[in-house]
Amino acid sequence: MKEQKILITGGTGKTGRRVAGKLQQAGIINIRIGSRRETPPFDWDAPGSWEEVLTGIDTVYISFQPDLAIPTSASVIRAFTSLASRLGVRKMVLLSGRGEAEAIKCEEIVKEAAASWSIVRASWFNQNFDEGIFLDPILAGHFVVPGVESPEPFTDADDISDVVVQCLLDDKHNGKTYDLTGPELLTFGAAIKQIAEASGRTIVFEPIPMDDYEQMLRSYNVPEDQLWLIRYLFTEVLDGRNANVTNDIEKVLGRKARTFSQYAADAVKKGVWTPSKIPTL
Ligand SMILES: NC(=O)c1ccc[n+]([C@@H]2O[C@H](COP(=O)([O-])OP(=O)(O)OC[C@H]3O[C@@H](n4cnc5c(N)ncnc54)[C@H](OP(=O)(O)O)[C@@H]3O)[C@@H](O)[C@H]2O)c1
Repeated sequence: MKEQKILITGGTGKTGRRVAGKLQQAGIINIRIGSRRETPPFDWDAPGSWEEVLTGIDTVYISFQPDLAIPTSASVIRAFTSLASRLGVRKMVLLSGRGEAEAIKCEEIVKEAAASWSIVRASWFNQNFDEGIFLDPILAGHFVVPGVESPEPFTDADDISDVVVQCLLDDKHNGKTYDLTGPELLTFGAAIKQIAEASGRTIVFEPIPMDDYEQMLRSYNVPEDQLWLIRYLFTEVLDGRNANVTNDIEKVLGRKARTFSQYAADAVKKGVWTPSKIPTL
């Protein structure tokens, strides 16, 4: 039987990079990384780049940028998935976001376009704290964040990628939607406390009003469309709608989801939060 060829969009990012590595470890080498830096390049903002990347592909992992929550996501996902189907892609696994109305529209578009599909809906990733937007404030020792009351069930990108790999390889996950969360609810303050304790860093935690946070980001020249997304994520997605845990990771993987403290201990071992050394004279 011909081995399927898998395209991994976001293949250099938090989940995609892990998915690619795990497929390779499983001996599946017939993969293509979707990235602006690969040959052929793949760019969500350049539809002309899609056909070459999709040609010869059987299965696609869709990790959209910047986020399925943006108002234009449905039209981009519709164009991408219909081209993929026309070019012979049979199976699509979509990384979706919990509690995002636009993401639900994109899920429906994938379900219509694909002969086989799985939906993997995730809550906020642990890895935002060591590979994403929260790394710099942690290293600066001053974590300023909108004053969100509601806790979030932060999920580990290793768990998400393990589930995605199962969905890509095993047809028993076809037609299934999984809601992935970590095993516990944590506020940002509690997450930062754990990181400070695990890493030995002093991190001042300062919740501020959303408007002040936006003003601060604007002063750092963060573009307006990113400001819109950040406000949406902090005010809507984190309004309490996702403040519950599921056991879908355990259902798919047959093991417990990783805790935030396991994540923090592993991130410390990688050295990314290592306290900066005081230069010796
Ligand atoms: N982060 C979270 O907490 C979270 C939670 C739930 C769902 N999600 C969803 O997960 C997805 C990715 O999340 P993330 O923001 O954490 O990023 P990420 O996985 O770290 O993604 C970065 C990846 O996106 C690629 N990329 C960036 N801009 C691109 C473009 N214009 N065209 C093609 N590829 C592009 C990058 O590739 P190159 O730079 O190599 O081109 C890189 O591989 C998003 O759809 C998001 O909604 C995220």
